[in-house]
Amino acid sequence: MPQLTVAQARLADSVGENVEVRGWVRTRRDSKGGFSFLELNDGSCFGNLQVVVSGELTNYESDVLRLTAGCSIAVTGELKASPAKGQATELAADEIKVLGWADPETYQLQKKRHSFEFLRTIAHLRPRTNTFGAVARVRNQICRSIHDFFQEEGFLYVHTPVITASDCEGAGEMFRVTTLGANEKPAAADAANDFFGRPAFLTVSGQLEAETYACSLGKVYTFGPTFRAENSNTSRHLAEFWMVEPEMAFFDLDDNMALAERFLKRVFGDVLQHCDEDMRFFAERIEDSAIDTLKGVVDSEFLRLSYTEAVELLAKSGKKFEFPVGWGQDLQAEHERYLTEEKFRCPVILHDYPATIKPFYMRLNDDGKTVRAMDVLVPRVGEIIGGSQREERLDVLAERMAAQELDADSYWWYTDLRRYGTVPHAGFGLGLERTVQFATGMANIRDVIPFPRTPGHAEF
Ligand code: 4AD
Ligand code: MG
Repeated sequence: MPQLTVAQARLADSVGENVEVRGWVRTRRDSKGGFSFLELNDGSCFGNLQVVVSGELTNYESDVLRLTAGCSIAVTGELKASPAKGQATELAADEIKVLGWADPETYQLQKKRHSFEFLRTIAHLRPRTNTFGAVARVRNQICRSIHDFFQEEGFLYVHTPVITASDCEGAGEMFRVTTLGANEKPAAADAANDFFGRPAFLTVSGQLEAETYACSLGKVYTFGPTFRAENSNTSRHLAEFWMVEPEMAFFDLDDNMALAERFLKRVFGDVLQHCDEDMRFFAERIEDSAIDTLKGVVDSEFLRLSYTEAVELLAKSGKKFEFPVGWGQDLQAEHERYLTEEKFRCPVILHDYPATIKPFYMRLNDDGKTVRAMDVLVPRVGEIIGGSQREERLDVLAERMAAQELDADSYWWYTDLRRYGTVPHAGFGLGLERTVQFATGMANIRDVIPFPRTPGHAEF
């Protein structure tokens, strides 16, 4: 007998087939006529499969009438056209096997509605809810589109290391990786005796290593987990998050911006096309504007604005901001959101930031004050992409490293790229969780990654 997923069994052209479907019971409703309806879900799609169970089944009283939310079952029977609204098919059960019970006294998803805060405390069970199932499917679609886009554009997927010795962003927000301490006296905790014979950290970005491949293979991207020990308890920051970082030889900042715009439009266009049912749920239950905002991004032209112009606009806006705006100061989320949500109501690419607030690797402009940086800002989330053209001139790079008090010796391999066959190049990083947040309208970044790591939280 063919085994079907719920998604397959819900298709109208499956009517008439005898099949087996397995999944978890969402609800059971008993009818006066001596039969029951089960809503079965297996995560293959948002919707449930309705199972109609006749009271004639031999285990109707012993098993079926004891089924509650969370029980796992295997059902065989014939798929029939359903008279009910919102579903093409239903499964008329010939046999129901209970695979696993879920004691209603202790099963925590018995109640229909829980707060997202509570669900974070049962992160192992929350994928069984409508919301987290939908988030997981949209996240998967986004990852697939990321790979499709870059592969179709001729990019090479490279794997940059998770453990590294260099602080790409120079912000000193790294987690140390060590085997010292647990079984040794603290006196021995010097780096020479450590596992790698030197200090090592979890990477904050794969960019520097990706540059080595771009400067030999052309267009590459890396996509993996990155880590930041910044103590920011916000709805947009995680200590462990995923980032996709394309890096392109012979690209300048304009090429970089054009690529970022095409890339985001492709990813969100795919979500609209392939996650219709999930997106309708987000628009109905989570964020009214979820679908319209995505359509807006796909159809709009991203606005390009220099940092200097942005600061002037903000100063003239007449808005009261919590943090003051002044040239040379980093923009805060409230400033970014004002620009993209209120002033322009579309994605905005800010570029050419002051050198003093950006990392050492960004290319210095002729004014000697600004660098070829870019941030892509979107409504609700703010910064979703950060990138730049890279400094390819050895002498300028050395000066920038000195100005930011970096130890040039430990970046010898990075500066070698400028010593041997240096080329203009550029790249950017897209935060995966902020992308999922933006697509779904989920308010908190902790609810778009399966197991969020934030200060004080790493239980699962
Ligand atoms: O702007 P960032 O720090 O840029 C870089 O790391 C560059 N090395 C990327 C590159 O040019 N290859 O980070 C890039 C993006 C941000 O725009 C944001 O979307 C996301 O990564 N991000 C975070 N997401 C979740 N939690 C955090 N703590 C994040 N920090 C950055
Ligand atoms: Mg940034």
